[in-house]
Amino acid sequence: MARPALSDYPHLGSGKVRELYRIDDDHLLFVASDRISAYDHVLASEIPDKGRILTAMSVFFFDLVEAPNHLAGAPDDPRIPAEVLGRALVVRELTMVPVECVARGYLTGSGLADYRRTGTVCGIELPPGLVEASKFATPLFTPATKADQGDHDENIAFATVIEKVGGVVANQLRDRTLQIYVQAADHALTRGLIVADTKFEFGLDGHGNLVLADEVCTPDSSRYWPADEYRVGAVQNSFDKQFVRNWLTSDESGWDRDSGAPPPPLPDDVIAATRNRYIEAYERVSGKRFDDWIGAQ
Ligand SMILES: Nc1ncnc2c1ncn2[C@@H]1O[C@H](COP(=O)(O)OP(=O)(O)OP(=O)(O)O)[C@@H](O)[C@H]1O
Ligand SMILES: [Mg+2]
Repeated sequence: MARPALSDYPHLGSGKVRELYRIDDDHLLFVASDRISAYDHVLASEIPDKGRILTAMSVFFFDLVEAPNHLAGAPDDPRIPAEVLGRALVVRELTMVPVECVARGYLTGSGLADYRRTGTVCGIELPPGLVEASKFATPLFTPATKADQGDHDENIAFATVIEKVGGVVANQLRDRTLQIYVQAADHALTRGLIVADTKFEFGLDGHGNLVLADEVCTPDSSRYWPADEYRVGAVQNSFDKQFVRNWLTSDESGWDRDSGAPPPPLPDDVIAATRNRYIEAYERVSGKRFDDWIGAQ
């Protein structure tokens, strides 16, 4: 049977990276574009194949971790239009929980900034003397609120999560987040990669069950560090957007991050290097070849 066209489905909305379409009352088409964001801007340049790589990686982890998830069809499901094959998934429509569920195994980024200011992250007291890339004794649940486009997500205390969603769901969010993080990070480490931190999103189905949604442990939602280069106290070379961030903050780009101006288009070599890094992350983590992933030819 012929596949439907993308234009057969009503378009519901756009995120920074994804487009959502309605398939029927209960199902959405979840399409990852090749857009890339950095420093809270969606860049003018796209990374070829990035949407397919993110989709392949999410499918790998949805399969690996033990948690109910939003997938409602295989990556070659006949409801997926040919033009988005490999970058699209059929998912159950959920009522998204308005909390970004972050798990951190290591101190860096906004966690480090909070720690330096307050000695805590999301209200969790931490021992003194921690530095960039310190490993926590046990992983932390450090929730955040989803910011409007262009704004930073804001770290919040667990008590605030309880206020937002109630104690029962808040506890489930924390327990699931930590369990899934540990499963994914343990796996990645066997492939030589540290998942320093990651963000999950959950939704509720019609019966009030918590379901893992969105994307799982992609280089967009996670900090991947090469395990063999790990050094406490140093800024690690994160796997994904390092080339993009390095170039944007270099003199060559001519971009002033604080000016509010949109970043300039990326040079071809930065685009190519970034694409290769995303593919390498997928291939290392999954042990599969990206060439074997499904796609519109
Ligand atoms: N099963 C689902 N049902 C309904 N909405 C979903 C489901 N899974 C994910 N979503 C939503 O789809 C959107 C995906 O968009 P996208 O990945 O571009 O992210 P974003 O929200 O713009 O930003 P970011 O991921 O950077 O925080 C998000 O708003 C997410 O909450
Ligand atoms: Mg997202």
